[in-house]
Amino acid sequence: MNIDLSSYRQRFLDYVSGFRDVPDAAPLRLKVEHTFRVVEHAQRIVDSLAEDAFETAWAENADVCRAVVLAALYHDCGRFPQFRRYRTFLDAKSVNHALLSFQTIRDGDFLRGETRRVRHLVQCGVLLHNRYALSSKLAPEARFVTDAVRDSDKLDIFRVMVGYLDHALPERDAVLLHVQDEPDRWTPKIAEDVMEGRVSRYTDLKFVNDFRLLLGTWTLELRFAATRRALAESGLMESVLSGLPDAPALLPAKKKLYALLEHCREGGGERP
Ligand SMILES: [Fe+2]
Repeated sequence: MNIDLSSYRQRFLDYVSGFRDVPDAAPLRLKVEHTFRVVEHAQRIVDSLAEDAFETAWAENADVCRAVVLAALYHDCGRFPQFRRYRTFLDAKSVNHALLSFQTIRDGDFLRGETRRVRHLVQCGVLLHNRYALSSKLAPEARFVTDAVRDSDKLDIFRVMVGYLDHALPERDAVLLHVQDEPDRWTPKIAEDVMEGRVSRYTDLKFVNDFRLLLGTWTLELRFAATRRALAESGLMESVLSGLPDAPALLPAKKKLYALLEHCREGGGERP
């Protein structure tokens, strides 16, 4: 399904240009690049629906597919005012950036010209993209859009993180949410999450290795076969996991994460 976003891309870039005056804005430039990659992933999910055995029913739903791509474009626009005001991407120390994204697109009328239905679905996808868990009461359409944004977002966060986990780049502290760089340490609670098949929480992260484990647990909630396959084929997860220490106590968690990755490669079925 071809979704023309050209006017919306321009609207997004005009909005972003309003943050040119922010000092040391390298982390914000990363967010612009991140946004466009998330849009590409979202478009790929939309294009893969007809071949995804669990999702074929959505393939011809034009409003929903349009909402997926628009929500991907606007999901992180709250990052810009968040960083200008608080100098961090850590929501717990600043503001819920998804709520700020939602308010920004609503107050700026970023979705003018769209139907009420599409606007509603985009707003849901934006507002809920960073929730730890989604309500089972969420309507299937809103759930679909939100899941597509979350999958696309995660896939690109893997790319961003791989660059920063191993290298002392200038924006590293902001990107890695100020966790401590201690190569031999990890938080037992996060390793437990892995063993129990639970997605870890950002608020539990203390060390860089916790971030590696957290990223590993994200494979548990990827919805679309296209995302799982893209992650497995990218080699990004191997890069994330290869930096974990060789301590015997961490071995079971590492094995479990590699097994999850194999599951992604196969595209579906029972989780290990
Ligand atoms: Fe976000």
